[in-house]
Amino acid sequence: MTTFSTTRRPLPHLLSGLDDAQWLQTLQASVDSRIVDGINYPGFPDASLQVETVGSSGKETIAEGFRFYSFVLNAARVNGIKLTPGSKVLDFGAGWGRIMRCFLREVLPSGLHGVDTSDRFLGAARQTGVPGTFNLIQPDGSLPFESNSLDIVYAYSVFSHLPEHIQKIWLTEIARVLKPGGLFVATVQPPRFLDFIRSAEKECVAKSAWLQELRAELTKIKNIDTALEESKFIFLPTNNGKTYGDTIMTSTYVGRVWGAHFDIKEYLDDAERFQQAIVTAQVRK
Ligand SMILES: C[S@@+](CC[C@H](N)C(=O)[O-])C[C@H]1O[C@@H](n2cnc3c(N)ncnc32)[C@H](O)[C@@H]1O
Repeated sequence: MTTFSTTRRPLPHLLSGLDDAQWLQTLQASVDSRIVDGINYPGFPDASLQVETVGSSGKETIAEGFRFYSFVLNAARVNGIKLTPGSKVLDFGAGWGRIMRCFLREVLPSGLHGVDTSDRFLGAARQTGVPGTFNLIQPDGSLPFESNSLDIVYAYSVFSHLPEHIQKIWLTEIARVLKPGGLFVATVQPPRFLDFIRSAEKECVAKSAWLQELRAELTKIKNIDTALEESKFIFLPTNNGKTYGDTIMTSTYVGRVWGAHFDIKEYLDDAERFQQAIVTAQVRK
């Protein structure tokens, strides 16, 4: 049996023949059994922990993460970044390593990094054998990487939760650690999130403390549509409210504020493909 840690041939070499559909199929098969075609893959934490972080579990949650991973790969290609086994990739807000494992096809474990503010989630990533390096960060801290050292930083469902002052700290840090020309791909909550909160069915709201909190927060803001139109950014302090909640950002806001650090390549809001909008940003060369 081959394992990702002891194989004589590195994983990107073993997996390079798999197309996207085959690679997703393999990762989904690893939900049932860690060994697929003789290779030992990372495991999964308890379904309850998966649901706690990302709202779904098992094959469904891997498929959602995989869609974003494919998006990042394509964004890299389009923006002139060649991912190789020696590339350095950071998952910002990695949770239990759902998405990091997808990059095993392209990048050696030594180049895979995950940071998160939750020791519990990072512990689950380590315990289930997700390859890579994991570092605990403070919600408003710094990144444990040298300047100009990473090729890609991505963040799935993280900036959609951060208040403005915390975002500004991390935008500066992410721009610092990326190489010139390096790519930052992050999901953000687009204005249609307001419709999602308003139109949620009664039964869903009754079952979801999160939706109830969101609804309560909406009622505290007068003329929320006008407020969003004016400020282009709204933070709803659900959860602990100080460093984490729910954040809506327009493309105008991203262009103005994120644009101070990066060239904004795209703000894609495609509800058919992704729950949140995706911003692709590149450090100026
Ligand atoms: C919705 S989960 C998404 C997890 C992961 N990106 C995924 O899609 O599987 C949000 C993650 O952001 C982390 N987080 C919360 N506040 C953060 C902060 N200030 N900086 C970095 N990560 C943070 C949480 O601990 C959590 O793991």
